[in-house]
Amino acid sequence: MDNLFYKFYNKTINERREILKSLNLLSEIKVLENETANLMIENYIQNYQIPLGIAMNFEINNEKILIPMAIEEPSVVAAASNGAKILGNIKTEMIEKAVIGQIVLYDVKNVKLSLERLKQHQQEFIEMAKEKSQNMIKRGGGPKKIWFEGFEIEKFVTLYLSVDTCDAMGANTINTILEHISQRVCEIAGADYILRIISNNATESIVSAKASIPILRLNKDVDVAKVIAKKIELATKYASLDPYRASTHNKGIMNGVDAVVLATGNDWRAVEAAAHTYAARSGQYKSLTSWIYDEDKEELVGEIEMPLPVATLGGTISIHQIANWSLNLMNNPSSKKLASIIAAVGLAQNFSAVKAIVTEGIQKGHMSLHAKTLAKQAGANENEIDEVVKKLKSKGKINIDEAKLILDNLRNK
Ligand code: MEV
Repeated sequence: MDNLFYKFYNKTINERREILKSLNLLSEIKVLENETANLMIENYIQNYQIPLGIAMNFEINNEKILIPMAIEEPSVVAAASNGAKILGNIKTEMIEKAVIGQIVLYDVKNVKLSLERLKQHQQEFIEMAKEKSQNMIKRGGGPKKIWFEGFEIEKFVTLYLSVDTCDAMGANTINTILEHISQRVCEIAGADYILRIISNNATESIVSAKASIPILRLNKDVDVAKVIAKKIELATKYASLDPYRASTHNKGIMNGVDAVVLATGNDWRAVEAAAHTYAARSGQYKSLTSWIYDEDKEELVGEIEMPLPVATLGGTISIHQIANWSLNLMNNPSSKKLASIIAAVGLAQNFSAVKAIVTEGIQKGHMSLHAKTLAKQAGANENEIDEVVKKLKSKGKINIDEAKLILDNLRNK
């Protein structure tokens, strides 16, 4: 199978599709039907399309896996694939996956007393929550725990509930449960609620992914490799000191994360909200990854830890044909496995970005991929694009004026 995908990026679109067909990974090109899309949102007009590609070279927990990515930024799929090649086997872990919701009571006369009363009725609330999650319970999930917090000065009391929603995203389930138990919660606490809703601070859906890179994979020259490893470590350390850099560092991670989240029909706003909240959990916004150069083992060790509240069942996923295809390409993973895959992509994406930044800079790779867009923008047709791109790269001037000039010369030859 590896041979079939060798230099996949150099093949034509049709050749790529034929390879997937030969492996039963593609039967026909799917489209999001108007009728389906019209069910998804109000006032539907047409689809907004984004390129869908496949990231290569990923090995996660000793399993080779093709990963679908939906993204418009030119260098992302290439960077993920290159990163994965260097990272080798990525080990992941996800201990639990649960969705959290909250009921917030306001104007609470006696915060301490309300908290005490609520705690005494904890089991009753769990039982009530179970009434509204029978299907989840049958699938092995359901309500897990309840806890409380008082905000004395502002007179708020909050009930938090976590629910194992199995492979579903679970927003509807948790919101239904919260609405079901809120009246009883108010009676016990002697106060009214102001809101009852899911929390996107997904602290019970944390995934980690780790890779150890023998430094000779960074460069054939061991001394150069050591410098690169050290610089990647330093750049990551810096990201945890300066939010200006941490924001960009994490944006690089989210390039990969969002692309898979989108390709699989998941809610990328929820994933973004969770990721950035987690990055700021210490009170300062920090990097989601760490890279450490182990001098004794001559290895660069990278780790990502982040929340990934993703689903493989229900909602948009069940009706979106392309999301279905994407999941199928990955052998229909469970939601925990999907989260692990996404974390691995985030790690590889971050590695490639930081490595590029501390060595040749990001523009070389980025502009070389951007050359295709420029050639098209200059008016090149399918037969002319490759030639224009080649000349743009060899001249080292990658801009629209140059692309137009090259195209003119080509046509007037
Ligand atoms: C560009 O989309 C993402 C990067 O800026 C990430 C980073 O700086 O680490 C390259």
